[in-house]
Amino acid sequence: MDLMEKIVSLCKRRGFVFPGSEIYGGMANSWDFGPVGAQLKKNIKDLWWKTFVESRDDVVGLDATIIMNPKVWEASGHIEGFSDPLVECKSCHNRFRADQIDIKDVCSDCGKKDWSPVKNFNLMLKTFLGPAEDSAHAAYLRPETAQAMFVDFKNVLSSNPKKLPFGIAQMGKAFRNEITTGNFLFRLREFEMMEIEYFVHEKDWKEAFEMWRKEMWNWFELMGIDKTKIHEHEIPDGERAHYSQRTIDFEFEYPFGQKELYGLAYRTDYDLKRQQEFSGQDLSYAGIMPHVIEPTWGVDRTFLAVMLSAYHEDEKRVILKLHPKLAPYKVAVFPLVANKENIVKKAREVYQLLKPVTVTTWDDRGNIGKRYYAQDEIGTPWCVTIDYQTLKDDTVTVRDRDTAQQVRVAVSELDSYFPEKLK
Ligand code: GAP
Repeated sequence: MDLMEKIVSLCKRRGFVFPGSEIYGGMANSWDFGPVGAQLKKNIKDLWWKTFVESRDDVVGLDATIIMNPKVWEASGHIEGFSDPLVECKSCHNRFRADQIDIKDVCSDCGKKDWSPVKNFNLMLKTFLGPAEDSAHAAYLRPETAQAMFVDFKNVLSSNPKKLPFGIAQMGKAFRNEITTGNFLFRLREFEMMEIEYFVHEKDWKEAFEMWRKEMWNWFELMGIDKTKIHEHEIPDGERAHYSQRTIDFEFEYPFGQKELYGLAYRTDYDLKRQQEFSGQDLSYAGIMPHVIEPTWGVDRTFLAVMLSAYHEDEKRVILKLHPKLAPYKVAVFPLVANKENIVKKAREVYQLLKPVTVTTWDDRGNIGKRYYAQDEIGTPWCVTIDYQTLKDDTVTVRDRDTAQQVRVAVSELDSYFPEKLK
């Protein structure tokens, strides 16, 4: 099994990620985050918010709608320019991204060579609001979270006076009708993004760009993403998104190739100017049009890079060496044996003590070795076992996930022991 297969299989077996709608035979490219996956994803997003919004004085948050006035997407240039080149095999009618195949070759699906002309395919997901399916009721699911930060720029400023430079941050779902999907969580049609639009004086854009470039690298550290597998890729002229004057992609060495994980773009004053032009509202700030640096993170790709970086195997076990701050459960509590009433009772007491202190789970199935291995596979950093000695001296064993070393800790110290480790 290659690493991707191992990750997909672990994700399903342990409840990180399931194939979506599986009881109906599934649905292409749809994945549901299970109990521990939902927790891991939430921890990624919470850490992002804490790091870039709550801990900083120069960034405020926003939570806007997914469906915005369609004019927003006219102004942003997405209706006109957010497309990929599409080519169709006229024999089997499969469609491909023209920039991902060589049309001098035959179709990989049917072996014929009968290509349609290349045309641009808009990636926005269209829907209709209300009972009439006509163009007056058409709307789009946002393809990026960024535009709300420009559209709400005036409201944010007037309710939250800030001096340049400052940023607006938002996380949430985005939708793209990708022509080709695949590689598990890598290219989805429904995914989550975390984005910051950082407003600066034009003369300061390079400095802000470098500041966010450093923050990207700090973030890899915080996520436990293997930095030796990260490579910056300067996007050349002619290949950048329509709004960008400089873009660096942070690429990760996935098992299926080195591809984009995050992006950092200098969007100039393109978006504010366009939204001003299309809305007729003044979006200037103190008489000038701020310029924008945009660091952007995909949540699902973060999840994938975190899992790939954390996955370890030794002769006996699979260990998910997640950063403790990301681990779905921080502590698992076990009674050594499940059929000794006083041990189970004491273990329940310890569990109840820890539950309000940190995210704690309980396991009394099978033998203790199996329970350890099950927790290792979901990345739980510490297992607490209540045994015969606990009944004598009120201490428990605390086992470390990565070293499998055990130490004895007094029950009276447990409520500060783990928060201290998680600092
Ligand atoms: N506002 C800038 C923007 O949208 P992008 O590079 O198109 O830039 C930002 O997307 C991030 O969203 C990417 O770096 C990637 O992490 C994630 N992303 C983009 N398309 C995706 C897809 N189809 N599936 C999963 N994640 C995706």
